[in-house]
Amino acid sequence: MANATMAAAIAGAMIAAGPPFALAAPAADELATGKMLVDACAGCHGTDGNSAGPAMPSIAAMDPLVFVDTMTAFAHDDTYSTVMGRVARGYTQREYLLMGEYLHGIAYKPAAQAPDQTLVQKGAKLHERYCENCHEEGGKPIVEDEDYYILAGQWTPYLKYAMSDFREHRRHLPRKMGRKLDDMLAAEGAGSLNALYAFYAAYADAERDNDNDNDNDNDNDNDNESE
Ligand code: HEC
Ligand code: HEC
Repeated sequence: MANATMAAAIAGAMIAAGPPFALAAPAADELATGKMLVDACAGCHGTDGNSAGPAMPSIAAMDPLVFVDTMTAFAHDDTYSTVMGRVARGYTQREYLLMGEYLHGIAYKPAAQAPDQTLVQKGAKLHERYCENCHEEGGKPIVEDEDYYILAGQWTPYLKYAMSDFREHRRHLPRKMGRKLDDMLAAEGAGSLNALYAFYAAYADAERDNDNDNDNDNDNDNDNESE
């Protein structure tokens, strides 16, 4: 009896803290299963988690623990979603782990956007001052690290939705992030958010410039289908 209670308490604590076995590397056949599971997400999140945008976030290279936490929160309606609650309820915790491990290994392709260049520099300074403490290296996926969220190269419309979800209390806003955000908006005005978005969107250009020896000629012959 006492033992059962203790076991339950330990199990509860492990779930709360994030179980240590979450990081155990899956075997090769399990990674294949991870890929198969993630293939079902391609309609919205793009092939291998690199979204064609604009409102669907890229999920390639996501931190696996953040991924599992996010899916769990969607499934339990602990965080706001339009469609992901329903999607997430279709999978087990084990399947979240497999998908998360698989996505973690996928190369992230920053979304090609066209930010207002005059805002990019301003956004870089704002990021450094108000956000970099927690979103390191400009919010890039730092795959060898833990607990990162992807901001750099993420689709701007998605980031805007995420930000309104935080600010309108549909999504839990970490207290210190809320404080930084308030400080920034008070000191720099509402336009500061647009400068940040421009900075995050500019990451695709920065990557391309770093990548001189790439072979894709990226000829942009799409005819701007705005309506
Ligand atoms: C019908 C479109 C659709 C499908 C299919 C879909 N998603 Fe999503 N996903 C979204 C949208 C939209 C959001 C933003 C949250 C919301 O409004 O539901 C999102 C958000 C997410 C996020 C949060 C990303 C972040 O940066 O916080 C994760 C993780 C995710 N989806 C994983 C998946 C996985 C894994 C699958 C496949 C099993 C999947 N999604 C299938 C539309 C979809
Ligand atoms: C004290 C640490 C901290 C600071 C400072 C901070 N953040 Fe965050 N941020 C977090 C955490 C933690 C999360 C994950 C929240 C959750 O659990 O959903 C997050 C999530 C986000 C997300 C959602 C990402 C996604 O994938 O959906 C955005 C967007 C974001 N932060 C933007 C910012 C911006 C812009 C700033 C600067 C004004 C900032 N943050 C400052 C800790 C911080």
